[in-house]
Amino acid sequence: MPSVFITGANRGLGLEFVRQYSADGWRVLAACRAPDKATTLNEIAATSDGKVTLHAVDVADRAGVQALAATIDEPIDILINNAGQMEAWDEGFGAIDYDKWDRILRTNLFGPAWVSHAFAPHVEKSERRLMVMMTSGLGSLADNRDGARNPAGKLYMYRSSKAGLNMLVSKLAADLKDRGIAVIAMGPGHVQTDMGGPTAKLQPAESITAVRKVLGSRTIDHTGRSYFYTGDEYPW
Ligand SMILES: NC(=O)c1ccc[n+]([C@@H]2O[C@H](COP(=O)([O-])OP(=O)(O)OC[C@H]3O[C@@H](n4cnc5c(N)ncnc54)[C@H](OP(=O)(O)O)[C@@H]3O)[C@@H](O)[C@H]2O)c1
Repeated sequence: MPSVFITGANRGLGLEFVRQYSADGWRVLAACRAPDKATTLNEIAATSDGKVTLHAVDVADRAGVQALAATIDEPIDILINNAGQMEAWDEGFGAIDYDKWDRILRTNLFGPAWVSHAFAPHVEKSERRLMVMMTSGLGSLADNRDGARNPAGKLYMYRSSKAGLNMLVSKLAADLKDRGIAVIAMGPGHVQTDMGGPTAKLQPAESITAVRKVLGSRTIDHTGRSYFYTGDEYPW
């Protein structure tokens, strides 16, 4: 039975990953900050015959990430660094809250680095050996297509965190290749979640169905690349 570890698993895209992988019979390790408050996640786990387990972790807490990794002794086929935070659109130049930027970087950039580091041995001993970073077109320096909104200002905190995450993918891919671990960035599209907002084009089920299809065919040959949920390669 293949296994997947997902951060930010209590709502949004993380919860949809849990729904879909558990429905397909995968072993699912669902990590979130407050498992006792994760009602839907607990309901899924309760009917999973032990295949879905909940794990408490704040990815911005390095020691907590390391402590969790030490309690888990099983292979992880796909590690999904999904937990993320974003600031409000109106927090632009002149109104930057540096304490908030620090928190966003800790969650969106340092967190995935710490999780990837702590869980690399688990991924290494699996069959699939795939690490995934949930990135965003808003972190792309190259994507200036119409509608990409990247030529516009604002969103300094989120954009810089995801641009940094993209670089993390590139460097981890190089350093983990010898261990047979593939590392890719994955853009889910604009999705209706608390973060994506009510006017987003995609529903979580549509996005994650497409993302899982792409993940299903990624191997070490694809390491160090960035993909959109459509399967197209995404410009850095
Ligand atoms: N939705 C979109 O349109 C879109 C587009 C591009 C990329 N993405 C990326 O996709 C990922 C999931 O986004 P989403 O739309 O599902 O967001 P969301 O609905 O806002 O959910 C965010 C998730 O991240 C968790 N989280 C935040 N900070 C955390 C921390 N320090 N430690 C552990 N968990 C933490 C939240 O947990 P709590 O409930 O505890 O806060 C929640 O489970 C993010 O990385 C996001 O940047 C989303």
